[in-house]
Amino acid sequence: MDNRQRLIVNGGKRLEGELRVQGAKNSALPLLSAAVLAHGESVFHNCPQLSDADADCRILTNLGCKCRRSADTVVVDATNVVGSEIPDNLMREMRGSIVFLGSVLGRTGRCRLSFPGGCELGARPIDLHLSALRQMGAEISEEHGYLDCTAPSGLHGAKITLSFPSVGATENILLAAATAKGFTEIHNAAREPEIIDLADCLNKFGAKIRGAGESVIEAEGVERLFAGEHTVIPDRIVAGTYLCAAAITRGEIILTNCAPQHLNGFTPVLEAMGASIYSYGGGKMYLNCKKRIQAPPTIRTMPYPGFPTDIQAPFTALCSTAEGTSVFVETIFENRFRHISELVRLGASIKVEGRVCVVEGVKTLSGAKLRAAELRGGAALVIAALAAEGTSEISGVSYIERGYESIETALRSVGADIKKV
Ligand code: UD1
Repeated sequence: MDNRQRLIVNGGKRLEGELRVQGAKNSALPLLSAAVLAHGESVFHNCPQLSDADADCRILTNLGCKCRRSADTVVVDATNVVGSEIPDNLMREMRGSIVFLGSVLGRTGRCRLSFPGGCELGARPIDLHLSALRQMGAEISEEHGYLDCTAPSGLHGAKITLSFPSVGATENILLAAATAKGFTEIHNAAREPEIIDLADCLNKFGAKIRGAGESVIEAEGVERLFAGEHTVIPDRIVAGTYLCAAAITRGEIILTNCAPQHLNGFTPVLEAMGASIYSYGGGKMYLNCKKRIQAPPTIRTMPYPGFPTDIQAPFTALCSTAEGTSVFVETIFENRFRHISELVRLGASIKVEGRVCVVEGVKTLSGAKLRAAELRGGAALVIAALAAEGTSEISGVSYIERGYESIETALRSVGADIKKV
């Protein structure tokens, strides 16, 4: 991680052209975890080239898998899974590593990992993951900052009702249920597209999962999974980020390799703000925004198919130059407005009160020195800087690179004046 890197943005350029959307980070990470369960060599296409995916490969290698990448294809050979521990340094590098719990436990009957602490977004508890795995027969002890999970007589199916449709918990249960003995039912399951992608992939590997994308998911455990080939779905948050970037510059862009149906939680909001959006077959989407954007009705972040928490920050950036006042209520994470104080440095007029943020649109922003403190908040700073008069310098680039494949190259290809130094 190089902390000296900066993005230099000269704002005021209208975005115009065509952009290819990368594969979804939030799908790729659970899919790489699924590879642990699959005997043989699994191949994942459209796997985004991100530091978080590299961290996943290090975890896989540490478990005894062989992992290699060529462009956006990752091959994982899980013939010999010899380890069941995720070391503290890898766990700290990426909190999302918790999604290895279900697969490592399913494959080896044990998983030891350091307790994932809080992160940039707040506390991020894992009680729902643990209680579900306990219901499936796992014995879990928490000592000296480590979680030790064992399934002495193997995992078994269970009827699990989640008190909240947690994405991570649903993923861990699916991974554990795929090869557990008997039948698992998840009630109030998360319905995100990434859940469907994981279930599709597990089913290709031989699992018997039905209902992914709905609130009740059923899985009939099978003896073993066998490796196969899978293509990661397009990243809906990256797509949304580029749409916001185009809208704030009053631009006109076409996204390719996109899944427009996954964007329905926020494209109607963009339309209400004055953007024209069309989706075509073949994963193409068009946005055109010729006039100053209008403030949208109150936005509340919700589980899918609601407005995604991950796109809240890019939208606050967009609304900073809208005509009128926008209100955001963040219901998923308690600490997701850290980018706001940086937007204020650009001249935005925004107040935060607990989980509510009120944005009074201003006519112009002016370039400033900014620091990204987390992934989506960092992308929001880039969006605002694209619209600001003059030059902005954004540090904390490594946060942005956890989720965006070379954001500067992508935006430059559609006319932005942005470079990494
Ligand atoms: C969340 C987002 C997901 C996004 C990801 C990365 C939602 C519902 N989930 O997934 O779309 O891609 O962040 O930014 O928007 N919780 C508990 N106990 C648990 C697990 C979660 O209380 O065991 C709570 C969390 O504190 C949080 C909420 O449930 O308030 C959402 O958590 P969850 O969906 O599990 O988070 P991620 O899987 O990280």
